[in-house]
Amino acid sequence: MDTSRRNVLLAALGALMTAAAGSVFYPLFRYLAPASTAVTKKKVTLQLKEIPEGGAKFFEFEGLAAVLVKQKGGGVAAFSAVCTHLGCIVQWQQGQNQFLCPCHGGQFSSEGAVLGGPPPKPLAKLPFTVNGDSVTIG
Ligand code: FES
Repeated sequence: MDTSRRNVLLAALGALMTAAAGSVFYPLFRYLAPASTAVTKKKVTLQLKEIPEGGAKFFEFEGLAAVLVKQKGGGVAAFSAVCTHLGCIVQWQQGQNQFLCPCHGGQFSSEGAVLGGPPPKPLAKLPFTVNGDSVTIG
C-alpha cells in the first residue's frame, strides 16, 4: 500500500471516528449542561376593543400569566395573574369586579389590592403604555 493511499484511508477513518464521538458526546453534553434560565423580556400589545368595559384579558408575560383589566369608566390596569399567596392563577369575576384565587379563596380588587383571604400582598402591577386603542405591557 503506498503512503498516499494510506493517508487517505487514515484521514477517512479519523473523520468517521470524530463524527461517531460527536454523536455520543454532544447529546451527553446537552443533557448535563445546565438549562437556560433566561426569560425573554418581550413586550405584549393588546387591543382595547377586544376587552369589554369591566372585563379582563389574560395573556403570558415573561413566561408567567398576566392580566389586563379594562376598568369600569375606561381606565386600564395590568397585573401579574399569579396569586401572592402560593402562586395559583387568579380568575376574573366580572360580575363582582374582582379577582378570585381558586386555590384558597384569596380575593383582589380590580386594582390588585387584597380584599380577603390569605394573600399577604397585592397582585404585582405591570408597567404599560396606552397608545390610542392598544396597550403595550412591558
Ligand atoms: S394561592 Fe391564592 S389564595 Fe392561596
